[in-house]
Amino acid sequence: MKKVIHIVGARPNFMKVAPIYRAIAERTPLEQILVHTGQHYDAKMSDVFFADLGLPAPDVHLGIGSGSHAQQTARMMVELEKVFLAHPPALVSVVGDVNSTIAAALVTSKLGIPLAHVEAGLRSYSPHQPEEINRLVTDRLSDLLLTPSRDADANLLKEGTDPARIHFVGNVMIDSLFASREKADKLPVLKDLGLIPHGYAVCTLHRPSNVDDPKILGGLLSAVAHVATRLPVIFPVHPRTRKVISEHGLNTWFERTPNLRPVEPMGYLDFLALTSKARLVLTDSGGLQEETTAMGIPCLTLREQTERPITVEEGSNEVVGTDPVRIRLAADRVLDGEGKQGRVPEFWDGRAAERIADLFASFLGVEDRPIQAASA
Ligand code: UD1
Repeated sequence: MKKVIHIVGARPNFMKVAPIYRAIAERTPLEQILVHTGQHYDAKMSDVFFADLGLPAPDVHLGIGSGSHAQQTARMMVELEKVFLAHPPALVSVVGDVNSTIAAALVTSKLGIPLAHVEAGLRSYSPHQPEEINRLVTDRLSDLLLTPSRDADANLLKEGTDPARIHFVGNVMIDSLFASREKADKLPVLKDLGLIPHGYAVCTLHRPSNVDDPKILGGLLSAVAHVATRLPVIFPVHPRTRKVISEHGLNTWFERTPNLRPVEPMGYLDFLALTSKARLVLTDSGGLQEETTAMGIPCLTLREQTERPITVEEGSNEVVGTDPVRIRLAADRVLDGEGKQGRVPEFWDGRAAERIADLFASFLGVEDRPIQAASA
């Protein structure tokens, strides 16, 4: 039987692979192998997502862990090559823009194995951002470029990509969101945190450009602390951010601002329960810009640019940069009732993974079994 190997490694990968894995199992006779590189290894950054998303335990776990970009990527490449040689796949599927994505892409293409990239074509046009490098290289090497929005198609075409490789399938992350919303709604997260629906904000920060420099991070925390003078702000703190906060005495922002409430990184369903009822989200995450757009929750992106412009053009996102004054003004505007609602972009409809499964089947020349036919 023809095999597809999926690569996951870091937190934002799990919610993208889960619906694809499910759709392939339901619609095609393809065998699937799930490989976890171990880029993220804390239970709160990884294990909890498998349970929340109904993703089976990985067939192979490489246990790579942290390191410099070169060390992390190189260790992954060495181990992935062994896996691909031991279980030769007909196709390797990678998602997103993390180091696990580029490591798998390099090994796959050097072994002459077809490569599919889910979430292809996104560009921030900031050439030194690690994720941008990962996106550019992965897209260049991929045989199937599966895009979440039309702007991604346009980026790829501008780079001279053969249109036959580009397939607009929609946003798989939103598949997971729609599939999980009902379950998340039943969780007692708000009650446990003493929050009322639409009476609080949520903040996440983890981009190296925002958190590695304590001056920049301090400025961002000052702006978020201002927001916390108006309503509670729940702040699940990424391990990278926690480290800088504790090493540079930035804890004082939390001590001085009781309504600015740091919590541990949350599981997928708990976090969805939290964001879906937020009045405002402040973030530098890519995924959260998309999720807030799909839910019509106002989002302020604390970066100078976004690789997801559709969330601004059509959705509820506003890119406000990292200047604390600008962030405070934008947050005040939202809290004064001028937040964006936007609309849900084309093909962010919960069925992107089905389109991907059907494409994989036709690319590999196997018959796909659309759900209706399978259950007939
Ligand atoms: C990675 C991705 C980023 C993604 C983010 C989501 C790359 C280049 N970046 O960034 O695109 O948005 O994941 O979280 O791949 N750490 C832990 N426990 C963990 C994981 C990490 O303590 O489970 C610590 C590491 O030791 C390191 C830091 O967090 O100090 C950064 O981890 P790393 O995976 O290198 O990058 P992220 O910043 O998480």
